[in-house]
Amino acid sequence: MSKTIKKIAVMTSGGDAPGMNAAIRSVARTCAYYNIECAGIYRGYEGMIEGDFKELTARNVKGIINKGGTILKSARSKEFQTKEGRQKAYDALKAANIDALVVIGGDGTFTGALIFNQEFNFPVMGIPGTIDNDIFGTSHTLGYDTALNTVVEVIDKIRDTASSHNRLFFVEVMGRDVGHIALNVGVGAGAEEILIPEEDLGLDRLLESLRRSKLSGKSSSIVVVAEGDKIGKNVFELKDYVEENMTEYEVRVSVLGHMQRGGSPSCFDRVLASRMGVKAVESLLEGNSNYMVGLLSDKIQLTPLEQAVKGKSKINQELLRVSDIMTT
Ligand code: F6P
Repeated sequence: MSKTIKKIAVMTSGGDAPGMNAAIRSVARTCAYYNIECAGIYRGYEGMIEGDFKELTARNVKGIINKGGTILKSARSKEFQTKEGRQKAYDALKAANIDALVVIGGDGTFTGALIFNQEFNFPVMGIPGTIDNDIFGTSHTLGYDTALNTVVEVIDKIRDTASSHNRLFFVEVMGRDVGHIALNVGVGAGAEEILIPEEDLGLDRLLESLRRSKLSGKSSSIVVVAEGDKIGKNVFELKDYVEENMTEYEVRVSVLGHMQRGGSPSCFDRVLASRMGVKAVESLLEGNSNYMVGLLSDKIQLTPLEQAVKGKSKINQELLRVSDIMTT
């Protein structure tokens, strides 16, 4: 174990995700286990610049493993994007005797950490936390599993009302650039069609598929649409388009929005967060820096942060095929 690291700081940045608190707890408890100090940084890079730190101990992180959101708060910092801002952040960390950082977040968070490391040679370790699951180097990001369970539960409820009225529902789910949530909940909730950015179904094929499903005897339908889908129309325009072209359908739209980011983390996310926190601290103590911890083949493994930022998370092709068959 490295002798140089005596105090590690942890922060959350970007969109919050269920499981972030469990990861904060894990980092704090792992530090306590190795007899080193731990600090929590409030409001991401913004709080880092302002020196908004609080000591985290094994005891004061109790009771948060089951809490959604992040007790450390999250923010997007414009100032950290400037050299002056990063210098202030470095000075604040040094003044607080912080030797290394664990950053929990997504792409933007990791990009900031990489630049910070390059400029100040400051040890950093990333933990992927975003419901979108759009990070290369891990099969699961923190919060993704919880979001899937939240969304499936909601779509089941929408199904009840859709079938009572013989309606077609477009349900928009999160996923700024990726369709992981949409594809998985679409299969899990038995959607009739799934629209994701990775696959351009096209408007004609969408209509064709809805007609086929009507002819096969279905009276109501659920179409799950990823927020970042590129079919060329947003969900409300899709509703108008389908109503114009298929008068037999009465169409409604549900945009699920930020409720998908809230709620108590699933057991999977709590366990994953605990494993990732341990690995992040231990890796720093072993002298590693500039890595992201991730879950690959059910093992917690390190991926260079640069690869995690530059790489693309791929859509599961096998699941796509399953979805095609299931929507027959
Ligand atoms: O990155 C996670 C995410 O929830 C995306 O799915 C969504 O597009 C975005 O954050 C929303 O961000 P904000 O909370 O800033 O509106």
